[in-house]
Amino acid sequence: MEAPNRQMTATWDCATNELHLHNDQISYLARVLDDGSLGHLYFGPALTPGRPYGHLAPPDFRGPSDRLTEGPRATRGHAGEFVALECPTGGGGDFRVPALTVQHADGSTALHPAYAGHRIMAGKPAIPGLPSTYVESPDEAETVEVLLVDAAGAVEVRLLYTIFADAPVIARSVRVRNAGQRQVTVRCAMSASLDLPDARWDLLHLSGTWARERHVVRQALAPGRRAVSSLRGASSHETNPFIVLARPHTTEEAGEACGFSLVYSGNFRAEAEVDAYGTTRVRLGIEPEGFSWTLDPGEEFATPEVVLAYSSAGLGPLSDAYHRLYRERLARGAWRDRPRPILLNSWEGAYFDVTESRMLAMATAAQELGIELFVLDDGWFGERNDATSSLGDWTVNRRKLPDGLDGLARKVEALGLRFGLWIEPEMVSARSRLFADHPDWAIGIPGRPRTESRSQLVLDMSRAEIVDHLFGVIGDVLRSAPISYVKWDFNRNITEPFGLALPPERQGEFLHRYILGVYDLYDRLTRAFPDVLFESCAGGGGRFDPGMLAFSHQGWTSDEMDPVERLRIQWGTSLCYPLSSMGAHVAAVPNHQVGRVAPLATRAAVAFFGVFGYELDPTKLDPDERCAIAAHVAFYKEHREVLQRGRFVRLRSPFEGDGNEVAWMTVADDRRRAVVGWYRILNHPQSGPQRFPLRGLDPAALYRVAAWPPGDDSMASRNALVRGGDDLMSSGILVVATRPEIAARGDFQARLFVLEAVEAG
Ligand code: DGJ
Repeated sequence: MEAPNRQMTATWDCATNELHLHNDQISYLARVLDDGSLGHLYFGPALTPGRPYGHLAPPDFRGPSDRLTEGPRATRGHAGEFVALECPTGGGGDFRVPALTVQHADGSTALHPAYAGHRIMAGKPAIPGLPSTYVESPDEAETVEVLLVDAAGAVEVRLLYTIFADAPVIARSVRVRNAGQRQVTVRCAMSASLDLPDARWDLLHLSGTWARERHVVRQALAPGRRAVSSLRGASSHETNPFIVLARPHTTEEAGEACGFSLVYSGNFRAEAEVDAYGTTRVRLGIEPEGFSWTLDPGEEFATPEVVLAYSSAGLGPLSDAYHRLYRERLARGAWRDRPRPILLNSWEGAYFDVTESRMLAMATAAQELGIELFVLDDGWFGERNDATSSLGDWTVNRRKLPDGLDGLARKVEALGLRFGLWIEPEMVSARSRLFADHPDWAIGIPGRPRTESRSQLVLDMSRAEIVDHLFGVIGDVLRSAPISYVKWDFNRNITEPFGLALPPERQGEFLHRYILGVYDLYDRLTRAFPDVLFESCAGGGGRFDPGMLAFSHQGWTSDEMDPVERLRIQWGTSLCYPLSSMGAHVAAVPNHQVGRVAPLATRAAVAFFGVFGYELDPTKLDPDERCAIAAHVAFYKEHREVLQRGRFVRLRSPFEGDGNEVAWMTVADDRRRAVVGWYRILNHPQSGPQRFPLRGLDPAALYRVAAWPPGDDSMASRNALVRGGDDLMSSGILVVATRPEIAARGDFQARLFVLEAVEAG
């Protein structure tokens, strides 16, 4: 993060009881209403501080619901139904979805949290047990904590809001405390709820399944509720805890967009409700279905954090805000700012056929190509020859690796590569010593069959003794050899959720306690091994979320590595997540998932836009392929900084039109260097010349444009010029080829363009 511009303020006007969070990009306003509720006033472009904005509250009267003119929410002569609230609850006059539901000891659930005080603090407090964005010095952010109290039920609610000095972002979270003498149960505790004054929004979310994660879905809001949620115990392949509300005409470069990103890896819900009056309520947090949390007197529940972002200039700047914040103030540890190594992962090259000689042959071939890290994937431990056994038995199989992990790792290091290892700590196979010793450690309901998936069961991470055990055994593995990298996998979702150690009335806590246990283990291992680079994985991208990225420096984006499929996956992922978080590998052809045979250069040209690597057997390459890969690796090394940490600009979407042509680019912060990727999926005859304008360059700079792979074809020669940033952003790169060139290239083409600023003259 750059030095704060000190324009950020969080002010509370005691005369009007208005809160104004403000920096030079955005304002967020709330106000105490007559009935004590905290009302929402505004979230959008920066408004002048020091002025009253109470008039932004919704008008008093709308529709027949003003019959509800008695009671706590009716003191201003209207029902709660159309009041814009910061912490809406049910049981009063507001019939929209609540953000907070607490069941009192008598079984009732009405709640009226009323303002009881606030405090403003420099910096940003951590959330106990949960990952969150952070600051490195208190002047990077200010946090306001607003205390609301439900006098009748003795429930205290603290709403936390953080404004960052130089980001169009507000981080929100909630604490609920039992301030009474009897137990209460939290039934729903959203991390944030936002009431927007109109419904002219499209909802964008990231949807998919295994091997086609995070495709962009965009639909206009309509009256009613539209939710994206996971009940899988993980954020999941199918959904992602991230949504955007964008105006119908919002594009990458123009129009309003509000982003909502939940820093959480478990069951979640992101929901927009359009009411009869055309207002929109958005709420995000832990999925209420199946959730409850019992608070004894004095106990407190902390929700995960939601990061709200605002852009008036399209989706591009919205993504920029998330990328920067998540790269610089969510990611942590030594690897946060380090260039990430180019790796070769053994999985698709060898699957379970792990032997020392095979791994060393692969590592040797990888080293000759310039690859920097060799990762031994699944199959190295216990009796793990296929997916049916040994998870939980984290001891090396000496028949496969006679000199152990240490022997193999040292031999790999002697070749000049670092050594990395795959683990799946949260799992246990029914065929394992761990399961034989501790059958009750696997999640399941006594008296009911356990559903197996990929022949494995899930350990109960809500139990401290199991987390302690894993910390011990995984720690031993990591100490046993020079291991520089860990891939932490999670290959199934949670079924029959039940905590043996929890009493019946606390079973609703189980799945959240599971995630707290996962975070605890991650936290302890990443602190104990601060120089290890962690990559999270969940059968590909089944837990690619900000919660994971707070501990693991990067995530395995998808098991699908075919470049055509990856264009959509990486494009969608980039809506929220930075390139430095996206593992992107080149695999063999025919592709193992879809059978497609895409050219090697195209596979590389897509994987370059992320944390680059290979997942194939390099001993099986022919001399031409070896030569090409060595050149690809050298190219990535030369441009690694801009490819991993540049500003990612999406130019042409695979989700618009026929999606046949896609383009994107990444630009260095100083705008002196950029790499542009252009992709054409199917080749069509006589497609004719066209241009695609670039963005994000310095209009006053001159750039030397070089096509990659270099060549003497018409695309390379027509673009090999020194051109102004203004010219490139207006007219753009020329896509052109002669007829023989078009015919020779066939389908699945890619072309990169490297732009380097040069001095005029
Ligand atoms: C799923 C991962 O996504 C793959 O990359 C690989 O690690 C396998 N699991 C191993 O079982």
